[in-house]
Amino acid sequence: MNMKNAQKKQAAEATLKYIDSDMIVGLGTGSTVAYFLEALAQSDRRVIGVTTSKITSQRCAELNIPIVDIDEVDHIDVTVDGADEVDTYLNGIKGGGAALLMEKIVAKNSRENIWIVDSSKVHDTLGSFPLPVEVIPYGSGQLIRQFADKGLFPKLRRQADNNQPVVTDAGHYIIDCHMQTINNPYALAEYLESQVGVVEHGLFLAICDRVIIGGETLQIQSRQ
Ligand code: 5RP
Repeated sequence: MNMKNAQKKQAAEATLKYIDSDMIVGLGTGSTVAYFLEALAQSDRRVIGVTTSKITSQRCAELNIPIVDIDEVDHIDVTVDGADEVDTYLNGIKGGGAALLMEKIVAKNSRENIWIVDSSKVHDTLGSFPLPVEVIPYGSGQLIRQFADKGLFPKLRRQADNNQPVVTDAGHYIIDCHMQTINNPYALAEYLESQVGVVEHGLFLAICDRVIIGGETLQIQSRQ
């Protein structure tokens, strides 16, 4: 196992201490969450999961982790998810796995959000990971033109094997914005949210409460 995966696994296992039996737990998407699901299944914690993607639901079925629909619960105690990039204020970019819409809905409905990452994901400023924006397919070409004019360096995400657009679980496309540096994530979020056809973006601002990096925990001190 390489160092990144070893840190992801370590972070996933370290997160179990924040999980108690009978909790309702939001379950994110991605390779780090996959380690968490394995650790959870092997532990003595008996939780109910609320998933953020079809792939996480499938993995829960294989591991016998019970899940319910988000609308069947009155709260979610804690959500455990990965992230593509995180800054020292615990703002982050998510959506590398095209699950950002459901991930944000589950996160926003959770009492606590924990992200599990390897140390390569932590940066002073966001933007080195391309920012995913989930959009309605109709008119997505127009949005790409507008984003280009705005200097966001947009690119429609396509499948590697057949070059067809990636379609999210909710039937949308993803436009990845290759900006390298996001100097004002709040202003960018406001701009994206005001564009017709944008369903959601991968800037997760003031959502995460705790980041576990390998075995180390970075907890929120103050928000930017
Ligand atoms: C999926 C996500 C993932 O949490 C993010 O891409 C991190 O994935 P990984 O744990 O595989 O590095 O946002 O939409």
